[in-house]
Amino acid sequence: MQSDITKAKKRHEELVKEINRHNHNYYVLDAPLVSDAEYDRLFVELLEIEEKHPELKTPASPSQRVGAPPVKEFGIIRHSLPMLSLANAYSKEEIYAFDRKVRNFLEKETSVKDIEYVAEPKFDGLAVELVYENGILIRASTRGDGVNGEDITNNIKTIKSIPIELTAGKNIKIPTLIEVRGEVIINKSDFEKLNRERAEEEEPPFANPRNAAAGSLRQLDSSITAKRPLTAYFYSLGKLEGAAVSSQWEFLNYIRGLGFKVNELNKLCANIEEAADYYEELMSKRYSIGYDIDGMVIKVNDAGLQRILGEVARNPRWAIACKFPAVEAQ
Ligand code: IVH
Repeated sequence: MQSDITKAKKRHEELVKEINRHNHNYYVLDAPLVSDAEYDRLFVELLEIEEKHPELKTPASPSQRVGAPPVKEFGIIRHSLPMLSLANAYSKEEIYAFDRKVRNFLEKETSVKDIEYVAEPKFDGLAVELVYENGILIRASTRGDGVNGEDITNNIKTIKSIPIELTAGKNIKIPTLIEVRGEVIINKSDFEKLNRERAEEEEPPFANPRNAAAGSLRQLDSSITAKRPLTAYFYSLGKLEGAAVSSQWEFLNYIRGLGFKVNELNKLCANIEEAADYYEELMSKRYSIGYDIDGMVIKVNDAGLQRILGEVARNPRWAIACKFPAVEAQ
């Protein structure tokens, strides 16, 4: 006969897996598998088990997403690798000039002809870094000055599209350590709704989705963050141990497999012409996209070439931010 605690532990594990799977389907894939009522039933069962057996309330439990006790100030986290910034381009001509510089630099070192690029919408949100050890989220920080950021772990855990435990899938291995970087944003429709609700409560409206996301993420009381409609996309790598990727495109697919939200509008381009055309295409589409973007980032795809190119003045030589004209204030 199984003891009470063994049974509770087993059921708890099942519930954690199931709730995490439903979160992923709902918040990352936009394809819920169960009704809200069914989801709530599972969640209540989880809370009841943890009430009886507090030792099961682990940091990776979905119950930890409701927010933690408020803090007086944020702790400081030093990024193990600096979070770099990007040089800017403002036109197709400047994009071609970037490609020429990449080629000139590489010609000295190697004999590369065609350079593949990944083109990605540039989010207008807040850059963050998440650290997972053996698949469990252990730390999250803001970009800060690129070297030191603020410890926002409790706030990040409230964002349901962010996995607190990574999933291993077919051909997907959980790394022993991964540092993923991305952007916390609020979708335009959620932003409108949030401001309508604030008007009803006679609270001042947020100026734009970026300010709303920043104000929500930098709350000392994470139970307030938990009530805000934040979401997050991921696009860049810090350290990786216990797994390897050989290109940006492979990295994006790898982290999608681990459970992260990755932009569907990212595009693998065979050469700079394709990337430059995509810049114009995205620019013309920008207002019909569900979240704010202020440009497009072009990255050399191959990780080996990225390593050769290195960085200068805190900007990688292998990437450039192609900006769109600024939106005029309304
Ligand atoms: S890559 C080494 N990709 O733009 C490359 N950045 O100046 C690091 N951003 O602070 C950045 N969307 O917050 C990258 N798809 C994207 C991005 C992106 C937005 C932001 C990021 C960074 C700034 C770069």
